[in-house]
Amino acid sequence: MKIGIIGAGNIGGNLTRRLTALGHDVSVANSRGPETLRALAEETGATAVRAEDAARGAEIVVVTVPLKAVPDLPSDLLAEAAEGVAVIDTGNYYPQRDGRIAAIEDEGLTESRWTERHLGHPVIKAFNGTYAQDILDRHRPAGDPERIALPVAGDDAAAKAKVRALIEQLGFDTVDSGGIDDSWRQQPGTPVYGLRAGAEAVTKALAEASPQRPADFRA
Ligand SMILES: NC(=O)c1ccc[n+]([C@@H]2O[C@H](COP(=O)([O-])OP(=O)(O)OC[C@H]3O[C@@H](n4cnc5c(N)ncnc54)[C@H](OP(=O)(O)O)[C@@H]3O)[C@@H](O)[C@H]2O)c1
Repeated sequence: MKIGIIGAGNIGGNLTRRLTALGHDVSVANSRGPETLRALAEETGATAVRAEDAARGAEIVVVTVPLKAVPDLPSDLLAEAAEGVAVIDTGNYYPQRDGRIAAIEDEGLTESRWTERHLGHPVIKAFNGTYAQDILDRHRPAGDPERIALPVAGDDAAAKAKVRALIEQLGFDTVDSGGIDDSWRQQPGTPVYGLRAGAEAVTKALAEASPQRPADFRA
């Protein structure tokens, strides 16, 4: 599958490693330009591109930049993506890093709703509570008792199904965590955030979340 990854840091870099290892055709971009991604491209066989070219022809696009950088992404980022493209948002709002975002703090928008408004395209929230290193170290075959599950939220059923299938191929079970308006259940500070457990425990943790933003994650 053709996959575009925007952001080549902890999460973007490790997704590039695993998705290329699985045989996907990956284009990866950062803010400084493809010449700064030569080592990652050589290591993985991914194609380093400019952010404006990363989604071209892609069936899945991963946006994995700090939240504060989302408004800086090219406005036509997804214009040349494949029809029906699924956009994965791995983002979290950390006010200490991202600055105060009033729409999240005051209006109560979920982080992913805020991001999709900037992108002008629905997103699927996934990987936001997954340690980047776990993408490399904790994948397991289906049925393995140690296989962990990741929550996946989104409003577009077809896109969500495509993303869940990809995550399962990457070596993780998935739990449908509802729509984007429900995705506060997996935001920073919730019981499922950073939880390394199977589907049953992930489902329970999602149910136990409180809609109130924890003080540590408010500005
Ligand atoms: N780290 C984790 O374990 C983890 C886990 C789950 C979720 N997350 C979330 O996932 C997101 C990414 O986290 P991360 O730790 O992978 O970040 P990171 O290591 O800081 O990497 C960020 C990447 O985004 C790129 N970037 C920044 N602005 C950009 C722009 N305008 N256009 C294109 N690329 C841009 C950076 O490129 P340059 O280096 O060229 O600026 C860099 O490659 C965050 O919201 C984070 O909270 C992180």
